Amino acid sequence: MRILGIESSCDETAAAVVADGREILSSVVASQVDIHRKYGGVVPELASREHLRQIVPVVREALAQAGMQLTDVDAIGVTQGPGLVGALLVGITYGKTLALSLGKPLIPVNHLEGHVHAVFLEAHKAGRVPKLPAVCLIVSGGHTVLYEVRTETSGAPDSAARLHYRKLGQTRDDAAGEAYDKVAKLLALGYPGGPILDRLAAASNGTPAPVKFGHTKMKGNALDFSFSGLKTAVLYHVRENADYTEEIHGREEALARGERKFEQLLPLCSPKTLGLVREFQNTVVRDLVERTLAAAEQLSAESILVSGGVAANSQLRTTFEERAKAVGLEVFFPSRALSTDNAAMIAAAAYSRFRAGVLADAALNADPGLALA
Ligand code: KG4
Ligand code: ZN
Repeated sequence: MRILGIESSCDETAAAVVADGREILSSVVASQVDIHRKYGGVVPELASREHLRQIVPVVREALAQAGMQLTDVDAIGVTQGPGLVGALLVGITYGKTLALSLGKPLIPVNHLEGHVHAVFLEAHKAGRVPKLPAVCLIVSGGHTVLYEVRTETSGAPDSAARLHYRKLGQTRDDAAGEAYDKVAKLLALGYPGGPILDRLAAASNGTPAPVKFGHTKMKGNALDFSFSGLKTAVLYHVRENADYTEEIHGREEALARGERKFEQLLPLCSPKTLGLVREFQNTVVRDLVERTLAAAEQLSAESILVSGGVAANSQLRTTFEERAKAVGLEVFFPSRALSTDNAAMIAAAAYSRFRAGVLADAALNADPGLALA
């Protein structure tokens, strides 16, 4: 069964064809990052307009790469939410129209369930299947949330299995990726912040941290997250230390000239800045890993799944691998391309929903706050 997946919840217009929920026949992603960069974040109205421009060519390209015609598609899976309402509406309207005109089933997909399936898609490529129950951390620019993932029976699920979710914890303020983007902005390191801070932290080479950020204690649910305090701590530290001012100004000028590559910005960062970036990343990674492992222990989980844009972070990956191995747990990540928003994960999630009989009709509407559990 070949499903065309369509994703337009945020700032990526994406289409993909996935066979039987696991074989990626094509996956095309048009990123809008160049459009939103100068605002330091996603501008919803601009995102919707760009989705309108991109949706038709992106779907055509996905079909062409899969060597298919529209009529070869067996069903259409589309992101219903959560996300930006105007952005979601573009994909939903297009998906609905295609389904109606082709007479094919339309399957509504929760974007977060897509991120969970991204992990299964990647594992499948390596001939592996994560064992359930699992704890899944979805960590991106818009989400930081922990779920329990299970099926009716334990063990390794097949691609048609209906997965059940239970929310274990979530951020009470900023998402982890949002914290990366805000810290990068205040240090004049461009947008998005994650990839460059990741590389700068790796380049810090043991430079001592100019400041130490403590563990974030959570009252109530100990599996909740909070990142806005950390971002504010970075801001205060930078304000209180006048010696950052000049180099920040220098990087602002470089960014204004379009020089935003790692190789161009690294020479404009003092060892103190590199130490600060490293300490910020240490704090984020420690927090994500510790709460996820605590959840896995509480649930006696069989494996850990990590997905979303921040799952691309190299330090997060190595720390998870080391710490999970020490307690005998397997940890699974998607590749970088499947970590960030894409439509292959939507098509994969659509397959299991289709097999469970979940279908939509022409009344399908965007649900910006759609919950997974
Ligand atoms: O999943 P995604 O593409 O979009 C959503 O937010 O849904 O994630 C984008 C986020 C951005 O905040 C970006 O800064 C962050 O993921 N990110 C990273 C890395 N690559 C992307 N954060 C940390 N380290 C990275 N290597
Ligand atoms: Zn996402």
